[in-house]
Amino acid sequence: MKRMDMFGLLKKDMDFIERELYRSISGDDLLNETSLHLLKAGGKRLRPVFVLMGGKFGEYDLEKLMRVAVPLELIHMASLVHDDVIDDADTRRGQLTVKSKWDNKIAMYTGDFIYAKALEIVTQLPNPEIHQILSKAMVEMSIGEMEQIRDFFNTGQSVRRYMLRIRRKTALLIAISCQLGAVAVDANPNFSRQLYRYGYNVGMAFQIQDDLLDLCGTEKQIGKPPGSDIRQGNITLPVIFALQEKEIREPLLHELTRIHELNGQCDVSTAISLIKASSGIRRAEHLATRYINKALDALSELPDYKTKRNLKDIAHFVTRRSY
Ligand code: IPE
Ligand code: IPE
Ligand code: MG
Ligand code: MG
Ligand code: MG
Repeated sequence: MKRMDMFGLLKKDMDFIERELYRSISGDDLLNETSLHLLKAGGKRLRPVFVLMGGKFGEYDLEKLMRVAVPLELIHMASLVHDDVIDDADTRRGQLTVKSKWDNKIAMYTGDFIYAKALEIVTQLPNPEIHQILSKAMVEMSIGEMEQIRDFFNTGQSVRRYMLRIRRKTALLIAISCQLGAVAVDANPNFSRQLYRYGYNVGMAFQIQDDLLDLCGTEKQIGKPPGSDIRQGNITLPVIFALQEKEIREPLLHELTRIHELNGQCDVSTAISLIKASSGIRRAEHLATRYINKALDALSELPDYKTKRNLKDIAHFVTRRSY
């Protein structure tokens, strides 16, 4: 899985962030191997990229920005280690997950260890506003993941409920990645507010696209077998839309009940074909595009730095990406 290197401008600084990421979780013999496992597997490093870009709207200072960028990627990574326990996922970024290579107990403490390392680094910044924004987002993420557990196989859930959940589990962390880069370098508060708004909308589209890729992507593209959401009962936006269609609803409900009864240990291709035959995919894509347009709107109040061009490119990439 490759890093987002569409930004030649940031390459040198992202190399520095990468080295600091490795350094941040090295040092403990027992937890080294398990923590480094996911880092070595790659990933887009989207959140640190956003932090550095946010930093371009103030007095850019890589040392300060590193103390936000590294913790944000670490928090993301820790949440993935735990997420794979909840989702019972065996592969991520094309490699075995921590819970699969080792076990759930090891994954719990690996996640906790990575979270703690994130706090160790961000608290080197003397700015309580940053600590508060970060802890609030971590609280919301946990609630979002809990909401998802509560709603596994809940075929009666509304679009609104889905939106509230992905806001918490994904969009807020991306929103604060954009915001905190600017806050760390004392940018104009209106800039950090607009960056938050940009990141929030990009984050919503990002999770909708992640959910679409789980239905329409290939294993090679997404680094894990597609159909995982259906298997585990995670009812995503295209499914909610498909269930609203008269012709599709009954056969799809029947398939989802069968998958539930078999604990996901069965073929899910009929369910996926039904969703693809509905307008669910198209309607979800349409909503993702609406969020991207809102994100682009938020950029209009920012000064016309080169970075704005890059932020626009990332926004477009989010709904076109296949990984
Ligand atoms: C995966 O995030 C989890 C979601 C929030 C959808 P990414 O797609 O950013 O994962 P990596 O870091 O590139 O592996
Ligand atoms: C995002 O949801 C996970 C977190 C916000 C922790 P997913 O469960 O869809 O993420 P992937 O698809 O496993 O990367
Ligand atoms: Mg999940
Ligand atoms: Mg998952
Ligand atoms: Mg997913």
